Amino acid sequence: MTPMIPIVIQFLLVLSLSRTKAAEPAANNIALPGCQDSCGGVLIPYPFGIGPNCSLSIDYAVNCSTINNGTSTPYLPGGDLAIQNINLLLGQAHISSPISSQCYNITTKKLDTTYWSVNLDDPPFRFNHELNKFVVVGCDTIAYVSLANNQESYLGGCVLGCYSLDSLTDGSCSGIGCCQTSIPKGTSYIEFEFDPNYNNSEVYNFSRCSYALLTEEAGFRFSTDYIITDQLYGQNMAAVIDWVIGNTTCDTAQTNKSSYACRSNYSTCLNSSSGLGYFCNCSDGYQGNPYLEEGCQDIDECANPNPCSKRGKCQNLSGSYECSCPFGWRNKRNNLRECELNLVLLIGPSAGFIALSFLGLGMYVIHEKIKLSKVEKKYFQEHGGRILLEKIQSDQGFGFTIFTKQQVEKATNFFDSANIIGHGGQGTVYRGTLRGQMVAIKKCKIVDESKKKEFGKEMVILSQINHKNIVKLIGCCLEVEIPMLIYEFIPNGTLFHYIHGKNQETNISLSIRLKIAHESAEALAYLHFSASPPIFHGDVKSANILLDQNYTAKVSDFGASILAPTDEAQFVTLVQGTCGYLDPEYMQTCQLTDKSDVYSFGVVLLELLTNKPVISFDAPEEERSLSSHFLSAMKEKKIHELLDDQIRRNEDTQLIEEVALLAKACLNMTGEQRPNMKEVADELDRIRRLKQHPWIPECNREETETLLGESFYDIEIEHTGNFSLEKKAEKSIAFGR
Ligand SMILES: *[C@@H]1O[C@H](CO)[C@@H](O)[C@H](O)[C@H]1NC(C)=O
Ligand SMILES: *[C@@H]1O[C@H](CO)[C@@H](O)[C@H](O)[C@H]1NC(C)=O
Ligand SMILES: *[C@@H]1O[C@H](CO)[C@@H](O)[C@H](O)[C@H]1NC(C)=O
Ligand SMILES: *[C@@H]1O[C@H](CO)[C@@H](O)[C@H](O)[C@H]1NC(C)=O
Ligand SMILES: *[C@@H]1O[C@H](CO)[C@@H](O)[C@H](O)[C@H]1NC(C)=O
Ligand SMILES: *[C@@H]1O[C@H](CO)[C@@H](O)[C@H](O)[C@H]1NC(C)=O
Ligand SMILES: *[C@@H]1O[C@H](CO)[C@@H](O)[C@H](O)[C@H]1NC(C)=O
Ligand SMILES: *[C@@H]1O[C@H](CO)[C@@H](O)[C@H](O)[C@H]1NC(C)=O
Ligand SMILES: *[C@@H]1O[C@H](CO)[C@@H](O)[C@H](O)[C@H]1NC(C)=O
Ligand SMILES: *[C@@H]1O[C@H](CO)[C@@H](O)[C@H](O)[C@H]1NC(C)=O
Ligand SMILES: *[C@@H]1O[C@H](CO)[C@@H](O)[C@H](O)[C@H]1NC(C)=O
Ligand SMILES: *[C@@H]1O[C@H](CO)[C@@H](O)[C@H](O)[C@H]1NC(C)=O
Repeated sequence: MTPMIPIVIQFLLVLSLSRTKAAEPAANNIALPGCQDSCGGVLIPYPFGIGPNCSLSIDYAVNCSTINNGTSTPYLPGGDLAIQNINLLLGQAHISSPISSQCYNITTKKLDTTYWSVNLDDPPFRFNHELNKFVVVGCDTIAYVSLANNQESYLGGCVLGCYSLDSLTDGSCSGIGCCQTSIPKGTSYIEFEFDPNYNNSEVYNFSRCSYALLTEEAGFRFSTDYIITDQLYGQNMAAVIDWVIGNTTCDTAQTNKSSYACRSNYSTCLNSSSGLGYFCNCSDGYQGNPYLEEGCQDIDECANPNPCSKRGKCQNLSGSYECSCPFGWRNKRNNLRECELNLVLLIGPSAGFIALSFLGLGMYVIHEKIKLSKVEKKYFQEHGGRILLEKIQSDQGFGFTIFTKQQVEKATNFFDSANIIGHGGQGTVYRGTLRGQMVAIKKCKIVDESKKKEFGKEMVILSQINHKNIVKLIGCCLEVEIPMLIYEFIPNGTLFHYIHGKNQETNISLSIRLKIAHESAEALAYLHFSASPPIFHGDVKSANILLDQNYTAKVSDFGASILAPTDEAQFVTLVQGTCGYLDPEYMQTCQLTDKSDVYSFGVVLLELLTNKPVISFDAPEEERSLSSHFLSAMKEKKIHELLDDQIRRNEDTQLIEEVALLAKACLNMTGEQRPNMKEVADELDRIRRLKQHPWIPECNREETETLLGESFYDIEIEHTGNFSLEKKAEKSIAFGR
């Protein structure tokens, strides 16, 4: 056992020796090579220096004077101000500031006075006006301070009289026994003075002396003892002086490389606040003395504590550092110093690592969840979640679910772009699987602030819509800033894609076109007439009509829809909808009515008839808009030229004309004169039946056509009277059956 002890001690010794050695290289970067770097225990960094060739210039040559017994003190050049320390990076230094005093000698009845005055070299030195205060301590005193900067002189002063010790408070320098005042910016000259007629002769038995001093405010605390004892007599306090390099700004200084003082390659220049002169600092990530060529040295940021978030591995780089993130994490975008969860990686392979990182992930998720759940709850309430929940709970058969944010994120693989099935002006639609069912999840971009609160109510209404030609809303998610809607998934895409899609080969038969038109019309008629309150779709277009595998039309996207205003004054001011489909009347009045949907539906009918885009930007101006092109063709009875080839070849020209007439009625400029959606649906139903049962007698067909034709043309020509399709529709149905 005994031989062990010396080994341990030796080891400790080696350790402590190597410690002191390690500290030395830093010291080498304080002064110029071969120069003394401290005096009397005070570090003297370059540009200051001791000896003729050790400082930047004579202005910074410190006088390190040694008295007989061997103690040395550094003094500011050209003066008798002792330096306490020098701060390189702030361009400041603390100096000893002698205390001036006036004491009354009861024996001689004379005044023993010491006045201090100092005139700093300006530049490079000035008194710091923000940190220093002129302070007077006494009980029967008037003291003055004369100050000057390079432009003006000032006079300041304090009057103090206290006739009882009771009112003095330690720490309070506010007029009783002690007072203080600021000094002007740029002060380089200071001189104190006392009024000899206020000389402590009357308060002698408890206060013999008065004092005046300049001191760093933060370092001075008034004490009652300063009044009743002589402890301040002949002492020094600390004051702050600013120093700069040269008398020009950084920009000017940098033009002369040989005199520019920021020598280190990793340094920056700072203008002094006075505007005269500059000083230097090490660049970010470096530390040391910027005035020396090798002065600014790379900081090892990875020395403890580890600056990387989430226990990332720290790597010390020149002037900075990087964090390599642990498995399952990755660097944040544009920020190599922080880590975030790497979800892509987590879903990937490597089961062993996953098991490990799940432990950490679990902790993280719980932590994040607690943080998030508050926000989610807030959104839930904001979006009317309570109304909806109550409804769901009270109505057992209510086929509507409020999904959590997690469920939706899981269903879409965190909104993976691979799952996007549609982009729109209002939002993005994702495909996903929820509870084993394919769903379409609509994530809106914006929601009208005023509508947010109504959201829950609207969900209740929309979710009760049950029509085979309307996409079913099966749920929503409210725990997000903007609620998400979850619809049943319709596999065959939109009517828009079907008509205008790349695959022009597809032959769309007239009966399919009629089927789609009729079913869409039925859906809209249901919204207008059977829903309570009525719902106006607001954005009827081919892109909002989905098709399933049997070409059954499903009207979707109620993003723009509104519940019919319950009170007359309630206008809808939000103009939505899509160019080319927009009701011209709506654009003027901003009032969405059921007839706005009728107009838009008319445009969809045109698309079905012509296969043409609603707006063709490369067409001549008069043909740009499909609806106006169609209306003028109608007038000139040249509609056949507009029709899609596949339809034009069709024998059912009369049926086609009837659809055209119906479309024209829908596109009437005056909303009131358009048929309503029910009438449109009934008319399409009739036309479809005619198509399916071509055995209808020719004469009857003609009669129908004429009747309808007449009335449509009447409106066009005379602009009179109300459109009344109902009678004829009744008649037509009779024919059909
Ligand atoms: C200071 O430098 C000058 C020239 O650079 C030289 O002549 C002089 O001897 C030096 N003085 C000392 C004390 O080294
Ligand atoms: C340095 O200070 C001492 C004592 O104040 C003075 O005697 C001496 O002349 C000073 N030397 C220089 C170079 O200023
Ligand atoms: C040297 O003298 C000064 C005052 O003259 C005194 O404060 C200091 O303690 C003395 N130092 C030594 C080592 O005697
Ligand atoms: C007052 O002055 C006398 C004579 O100069 C001196 O001896 C004495 O110490 C002084 N008293 C005080 C308190 O300084
Ligand atoms: C001290 O002040 C009193 C008046 O306050 C004055 O009469 C006296 O001469 C002063 N003493 C000295 C030494 O100035
Ligand atoms: C100071 O002297 C006055 C009389 O001149 C006396 O009333 C007072 O108590 C004395 N105070 C102290 C602290 O000695
Ligand atoms: C700046 O300093 C140079 C020499 O150091 C001097 O010639 C010049 O007058 C100074 N300029 C000002 C504005 O003080
Ligand atoms: C640059 O600075 C050096 C050293 O102070 C001086 O000798 C030289 O004249 C200066 N050059 C200019 C262009 O000011
Ligand atoms: C500073 O940069 C210059 C030029 O880029 C180079 O020549 C010099 O070696 C560098 N000095 C240090 C200490 O890195
Ligand atoms: C220094 O001041 C000058 C003039 O006021 C200004 O143009 C320059 O950008 C400043 N430089 C720095 C580093 O602040
Ligand atoms: C000097 O640089 C360091 C590190 O880059 C920085 O913390 C400090 O605030 C800078 N000092 C000044 C006065 O800008
Ligand atoms: C890392 O930090 C140290 C300082 O402790 C420095 O000397 C070294 O050059 C730095 N490493 C790199 C690669 O910059």
